[in-house]
Amino acid sequence: MFTSVILAAGMGTRMKSEMPKVIHRVCGKPLAKWVIDASKAAGADAVLTVTGHKSEMVRSVLGGSCEYALQAEQKGTGHAVMQALEFIKAHKGSVVILNGDTPLITADTIDKAIQYHNAQKNYATVITAVLDNAEGYGRIVRGRDGGVLKIVEHKDASEEERKIKEINSGMYVFDSQALSSALERLTPNNAQGEYYLTDTLEIILSDGMKVGAYAISDNDEIRGVNDRVQLSEAEEIMRARINASHMRNGVTMHIPESIYIEADVEIGNDTEIGAAVTIKSGTKIGSGCVIGQGSTLDGAVICDNVEVLSSVIINSEIDGNTKVGPFAYVRPDCKVGKDVKVGDFVELKNSVIGDGTKISHLTYIGDSDVGKNVNFGCGTVTCNYDGKDKYRTAIGDNCFIGCNTNLVSPVKVGSGAYIAAGSTITEDIPENSLAIARERQVNKNGWNDKREK
Ligand code: UD1
Ligand code: CA
Repeated sequence: MFTSVILAAGMGTRMKSEMPKVIHRVCGKPLAKWVIDASKAAGADAVLTVTGHKSEMVRSVLGGSCEYALQAEQKGTGHAVMQALEFIKAHKGSVVILNGDTPLITADTIDKAIQYHNAQKNYATVITAVLDNAEGYGRIVRGRDGGVLKIVEHKDASEEERKIKEINSGMYVFDSQALSSALERLTPNNAQGEYYLTDTLEIILSDGMKVGAYAISDNDEIRGVNDRVQLSEAEEIMRARINASHMRNGVTMHIPESIYIEADVEIGNDTEIGAAVTIKSGTKIGSGCVIGQGSTLDGAVICDNVEVLSSVIINSEIDGNTKVGPFAYVRPDCKVGKDVKVGDFVELKNSVIGDGTKISHLTYIGDSDVGKNVNFGCGTVTCNYDGKDKYRTAIGDNCFIGCNTNLVSPVKVGSGAYIAAGSTITEDIPENSLAIARERQVNKNGWNDKREK
């Protein structure tokens, strides 16, 4: 049983952004949301985020994923946690303090820090790391017996203290009562005139309660994001973690360091992913698929044994055993059936394509309802837009659409109908009939001989 308080009121000046730092994204997920999700995965009963700078924007992005407290003016980390006092008092037991700009913290580390905190019967446990370059961080000052005495900020530290390599990650486990009582006694007596959360450790110690440190082994987990370079470094680490977890689940990746897969993507086992593939949040891929080099999938739902070669699929569903590409573009709101072929230079938009249909080359199908086992000749175009409005095209089962056909919508092609190559269809075609809609050919025999004379 524990709760989390996530500090996210700061401005993030070095991002040089109109957007608050904590809603910048790593692998498609806002920085602070990674921290919220890690807390929940570790078993937090409740999570509260302290917002301040552009609070409304932060809250609209993070939505209902946590509770909120407002820190209207940023007067330090201790002051930020004070804004959550009501929440902290309402939940007895442990409260974990985390930062909204450290997305790489894992549920496992949160869990282990809490276990350590409980086993040591601590009232405060600071999560620490040992860094070769500790510049800028608060340093952990320990007594002769090795116990934590206090944390001294870089700006307030003496020459001796600045040599300490054990640093404060800015993450802690507190007993909620010990923390709230200490917060009520914080003062801003330091170099920056801020309320330092770190000063609560000394107050808790002076109350005769035990304080300790939990040292983590993977320093990446405490990496903060302060600028766009660190944002890309954090994303690089997250990307590698995401890819490794898919590979462990049975996904084959070729040149995984070139593959970008966002958070919240599902991929079945025995699916193979080629180089330079991008897969965005919300995409689901079944088993036994091949997602070939250079493809982009965004909000796509791909069933089993589908092949997608060098193609783009956005917010659409592709049923089993279908082949897409190379170089196909499936735009939003398509539902493509089983055993379909969507070949090279084919564009689909807001259309339903029935099972077994073949759209092999150079075709545009928009706003259409296509039946089963239809064969599209090369170069078919649905003319779905008259410059003002869009209309639908309906094509029944088992039709044969000759090459270079224009279907001027709204228009219906009955089941089993054939369309002669080169036709421009403007009227509905009854079932099982042949439509020819082009000029008859005229041959002028010997025409060239006459011209030359
Ligand atoms: C803090 C710690 C330092 C530690 C470091 C780790 C203190 C006094 N110092 O320093 O020991 O090594 O983190 O990164 O706590 N925030 C607010 N409101 C505020 C101030 C900060 O919400 O008024 C938030 C920031 O948005 C950020 C977090 O708290 O997410 C840390 O604040 P920051 O200013 O980066 O703290 P540091 O000075 O780096
Ligand atoms: Ca910081």
